[in-house]
Amino acid sequence: MANLQSSSFLLTLCLFLITSLSSDFDPSQDFCVGDLKASPSTINGFPCKSSVSSNDFVFSGLKGPLNTSNPNGATVASGNVLTFPGLNTLGVSMNNVEFAPGGVGQPHTHPRATEAGVVIEGSVFVGFLTTNNTLFSKVLSAGEMFVVPRGLVHFQFNVGKGKARLITVFNSQLPGAVILPNTLFGSNPAIPNAVLTKTFRIDDVTVNNIKSKFVV
Ligand code: GLV
Ligand code: MN
Repeated sequence: MANLQSSSFLLTLCLFLITSLSSDFDPSQDFCVGDLKASPSTINGFPCKSSVSSNDFVFSGLKGPLNTSNPNGATVASGNVLTFPGLNTLGVSMNNVEFAPGGVGQPHTHPRATEAGVVIEGSVFVGFLTTNNTLFSKVLSAGEMFVVPRGLVHFQFNVGKGKARLITVFNSQLPGAVILPNTLFGSNPAIPNAVLTKTFRIDDVTVNNIKSKFVV
Protein backbone atom coordinates (compact mmCIF):
# COMPACT_ATOMS: atom_id res chain seq x y z
CA MET A 1 0.00 0.00 0.00
CA ALA A 2 2.84 2.37 1.00
CA ASN A 3 4.55 1.45 -2.27
CA LEU A 4 1.42 2.25 -4.25
CA GLN A 5 1.13 5.63 -2.49
CA SER A 6 4.74 6.54 -3.14
CA SER A 7 4.52 5.53 -6.82
CA SER A 8 1.34 7.61 -7.27
CA PHE A 9 3.11 10.52 -5.57
CA LEU A 10 6.08 10.12 -7.94
CA LEU A 11 3.77 9.87 -10.95
CA THR A 12 1.89 13.04 -9.89
CA LEU A 13 5.20 14.84 -9.35
CA CYS A 14 6.44 13.81 -12.81
CA LEU A 15 3.18 14.89 -14.45
CA PHE A 16 3.34 18.24 -12.61
CA LEU A 17 6.94 18.79 -13.70
CA ILE A 18 6.19 17.86 -17.31
CA THR A 19 3.06 20.02 -17.59
CA SER A 20 4.60 23.01 -15.80
CA LEU A 21 7.66 23.17 -18.08
CA SER A 22 7.37 25.70 -20.88
CA SER A 23 9.18 25.04 -24.14
CA ASP A 24 12.28 27.06 -23.23
CA PHE A 25 13.72 27.37 -19.73
CA ASP A 26 12.39 30.12 -17.47
CA PRO A 27 14.69 33.14 -17.14
CA SER A 28 16.42 33.76 -13.82
CA GLN A 29 16.83 37.51 -14.39
CA ASP A 30 14.74 40.33 -15.93
CA PHE A 31 16.54 40.03 -19.24
CA CYS A 32 19.76 38.78 -20.76
CA VAL A 33 20.31 40.37 -24.15
CA GLY A 34 22.29 37.75 -26.04
CA ASP A 35 25.90 38.45 -26.90
CA LEU A 36 26.01 36.51 -30.18
CA LYS A 37 29.72 37.18 -30.60
CA ALA A 38 30.66 35.52 -27.34
CA SER A 39 31.49 31.94 -28.09
CA PRO A 40 30.55 29.28 -27.66
CA SER A 41 26.78 29.71 -27.30
CA THR A 42 25.64 28.18 -24.02
CA ILE A 43 23.45 25.08 -23.93
CA ASN A 44 20.18 27.02 -23.82
CA GLY A 45 20.98 30.46 -25.13
CA PHE A 46 23.76 33.02 -25.25
CA PRO A 47 25.79 34.79 -22.56
CA CYS A 48 24.35 38.20 -21.59
CA LYS A 49 25.69 41.43 -23.08
CA SER A 50 27.23 43.53 -20.35
CA SER A 51 25.78 46.86 -21.45
CA VAL A 52 22.36 47.35 -23.04
CA SER A 53 20.17 50.17 -24.35
CA SER A 54 16.56 50.59 -25.51
CA ASN A 55 17.60 49.50 -28.99
CA ASP A 56 18.37 46.02 -27.67
CA PHE A 57 14.64 45.50 -26.96
CA VAL A 58 13.21 46.48 -30.34
CA PHE A 59 13.54 44.87 -33.78
CA SER A 60 12.56 46.25 -37.18
CA GLY A 61 13.32 43.12 -39.19
CA LEU A 62 9.74 41.89 -39.56
CA LYS A 63 8.74 44.84 -41.73
CA GLY A 64 7.30 44.01 -45.12
CA PRO A 65 6.71 43.94 -47.92
CA LEU A 66 8.96 40.91 -48.45
CA ASN A 67 10.12 39.77 -51.85
CA THR A 68 8.15 36.60 -52.67
CA SER A 69 9.66 36.02 -56.14
CA ASN A 70 11.04 32.57 -55.43
CA PRO A 71 9.91 29.02 -56.34
CA ASN A 72 7.68 28.79 -53.24
CA GLY A 73 6.11 32.20 -53.75
CA ALA A 74 6.57 32.79 -50.03
CA THR A 75 9.14 34.44 -47.75
CA VAL A 76 9.64 34.39 -44.00
CA ALA A 77 11.22 37.16 -41.94
CA SER A 78 12.19 35.78 -38.52
CA GLY A 79 12.49 37.60 -35.23
CA ASN A 80 14.30 34.97 -33.18
CA VAL A 81 17.27 35.14 -30.83
CA LEU A 82 19.69 35.05 -33.76
CA THR A 83 18.19 38.11 -35.45
CA PHE A 84 16.90 39.81 -32.29
CA PRO A 85 19.23 38.94 -29.36
CA GLY A 86 16.93 40.79 -26.93
CA LEU A 87 14.79 37.62 -26.97
CA ASN A 88 17.58 35.61 -25.34
CA THR A 89 16.21 33.60 -22.35
CA LEU A 90 12.66 34.98 -22.86
CA GLY A 91 11.17 31.94 -24.63
CA VAL A 92 9.33 33.72 -27.45
CA SER A 93 9.87 34.59 -31.11
CA MET A 94 7.83 35.72 -34.13
CA ASN A 95 7.78 35.50 -37.92
CA ASN A 96 6.27 37.64 -40.65
CA VAL A 97 5.29 35.32 -43.51
CA GLU A 98 4.22 36.74 -46.87
CA PHE A 99 2.80 34.86 -49.86
CA ALA A 100 2.32 35.70 -53.51
CA PRO A 101 -0.94 34.31 -54.99
CA GLY A 102 -0.53 30.51 -55.01
CA GLY A 103 2.48 30.74 -52.67
CA VAL A 104 3.16 27.86 -50.30
CA GLY A 105 4.67 27.53 -46.84
CA GLN A 106 6.23 24.12 -47.48
CA PRO A 107 5.45 21.29 -45.05
CA HIS A 108 7.73 21.78 -42.04
CA THR A 109 7.98 21.27 -38.29
CA HIS A 110 9.35 23.28 -35.36
CA PRO A 111 11.07 20.80 -33.05
CA ARG A 112 11.28 23.21 -30.14
CA ALA A 113 7.98 25.14 -30.16
CA THR A 114 4.24 25.30 -30.52
CA GLU A 115 3.25 27.85 -33.17
CA ALA A 116 0.26 30.22 -33.11
CA GLY A 117 -0.52 32.45 -36.05
CA VAL A 118 -2.94 35.07 -37.26
CA VAL A 119 -3.83 35.92 -40.86
CA ILE A 120 -3.22 39.64 -41.38
CA GLU A 121 -4.12 39.80 -45.06
CA GLY A 122 -5.61 37.49 -47.70
CA SER A 123 -7.03 34.03 -47.62
CA VAL A 124 -4.81 31.17 -46.46
CA PHE A 125 -5.36 27.40 -46.34
CA VAL A 126 -3.56 26.28 -43.16
CA GLY A 127 -3.14 22.72 -41.96
CA PHE A 128 -1.23 20.44 -39.65
CA LEU A 129 -0.90 16.65 -39.40
CA THR A 130 -1.00 14.53 -36.30
CA THR A 131 1.40 11.71 -35.56
CA ASN A 132 -1.24 9.29 -36.89
CA ASN A 133 -1.54 11.23 -40.17
CA THR A 134 -4.84 12.99 -39.54
CA LEU A 135 -5.01 16.33 -41.32
CA PHE A 136 -6.65 19.29 -39.58
CA SER A 137 -7.04 22.17 -42.04
CA LYS A 138 -9.13 25.21 -42.85
CA VAL A 139 -9.17 28.29 -45.08
CA LEU A 140 -8.71 31.39 -42.87
CA SER A 141 -9.11 35.07 -43.66
CA ALA A 142 -7.77 38.25 -42.04
CA GLY A 143 -8.18 38.30 -38.26
CA GLU A 144 -8.48 34.53 -37.86
CA MET A 145 -5.99 32.65 -35.72
CA PHE A 146 -4.62 29.10 -35.81
CA VAL A 147 -2.36 26.92 -33.73
CA VAL A 148 0.12 24.17 -34.59
CA PRO A 149 1.03 21.85 -31.72
CA ARG A 150 4.76 21.54 -31.08
CA GLY A 151 6.71 19.41 -33.53
CA LEU A 152 3.83 18.59 -35.88
CA VAL A 153 4.14 18.88 -39.66
CA HIS A 154 2.22 21.89 -41.03
CA PHE A 155 1.89 24.05 -44.14
CA GLN A 156 0.13 27.11 -45.54
CA PHE A 157 -1.13 27.87 -49.03
CA ASN A 158 -2.35 31.21 -50.34
CA VAL A 159 -5.70 30.41 -51.95
CA GLY A 160 -6.71 34.04 -52.51
CA LYS A 161 -6.35 36.14 -55.66
CA GLY A 162 -4.02 38.66 -54.02
CA LYS A 163 -1.05 38.47 -51.66
CA ALA A 164 -1.43 37.02 -48.18
CA ARG A 165 0.35 37.63 -44.91
CA LEU A 166 0.59 35.86 -41.54
CA ILE A 167 2.20 36.75 -38.25
CA THR A 168 3.30 33.66 -36.32
CA VAL A 169 4.57 33.36 -32.74
CA PHE A 170 6.48 30.59 -30.98
CA ASN A 171 7.06 29.62 -27.36
CA SER A 172 10.80 29.39 -27.98
CA GLN A 173 13.48 31.96 -28.70
CA LEU A 174 14.73 29.63 -31.45
CA PRO A 175 11.98 27.19 -32.55
CA GLY A 176 14.01 25.66 -35.38
CA ALA A 177 12.42 24.65 -38.68
CA VAL A 178 12.75 21.27 -40.35
CA ILE A 179 11.55 21.97 -43.89
CA LEU A 180 10.73 18.50 -45.19
CA PRO A 181 11.59 18.84 -48.92
CA ASN A 182 14.90 20.59 -48.12
CA THR A 183 15.74 18.12 -45.37
CA LEU A 184 15.04 15.04 -47.48
CA PHE A 185 16.24 16.20 -50.90
CA GLY A 186 18.63 19.08 -50.20
CA SER A 187 20.78 17.90 -47.29
CA ASN A 188 24.56 18.16 -47.21
CA PRO A 189 25.86 15.51 -47.55
CA ALA A 190 22.91 14.15 -49.51
CA ILE A 191 20.78 11.24 -48.34
CA PRO A 192 21.81 8.31 -50.63
CA ASN A 193 19.41 7.69 -53.53
CA ALA A 194 18.91 4.08 -52.37
CA VAL A 195 17.22 5.38 -49.20
CA LEU A 196 14.96 7.77 -51.10
CA THR A 197 14.01 5.43 -53.97
CA LYS A 198 12.97 2.74 -51.47
CA THR A 199 11.23 5.21 -49.14
CA PHE A 200 9.15 6.92 -51.80
CA ARG A 201 8.82 3.92 -54.19
CA ILE A 202 10.32 5.96 -57.03
CA ASP A 203 13.31 5.52 -59.35
CA ASP A 204 16.74 7.15 -59.41
CA VAL A 205 15.80 9.53 -62.22
CA THR A 206 12.92 10.90 -60.19
CA VAL A 207 15.05 11.24 -57.06
CA ASN A 208 17.78 13.07 -58.99
CA ASN A 209 15.17 15.31 -60.57
CA ILE A 210 13.73 16.28 -57.17
CA LYS A 211 17.21 16.66 -55.64
CA SER A 212 18.20 19.06 -58.42
CA LYS A 213 15.45 21.43 -57.27
CA PHE A 214 16.64 21.48 -53.64
CA VAL A 215 20.39 21.94 -54.01
CA VAL A 216 21.91 23.51 -50.91
C1 GLV B 1 4.76 29.29 -40.36
O1 GLV B 1 4.44 28.13 -40.35
C2 GLV B 1 5.94 29.76 -39.68
O2 GLV B 1 6.70 28.88 -39.25
O3 GLV B 1 6.14 30.98 -39.55
MN1 MN C 1 5.71 26.95 -38.95
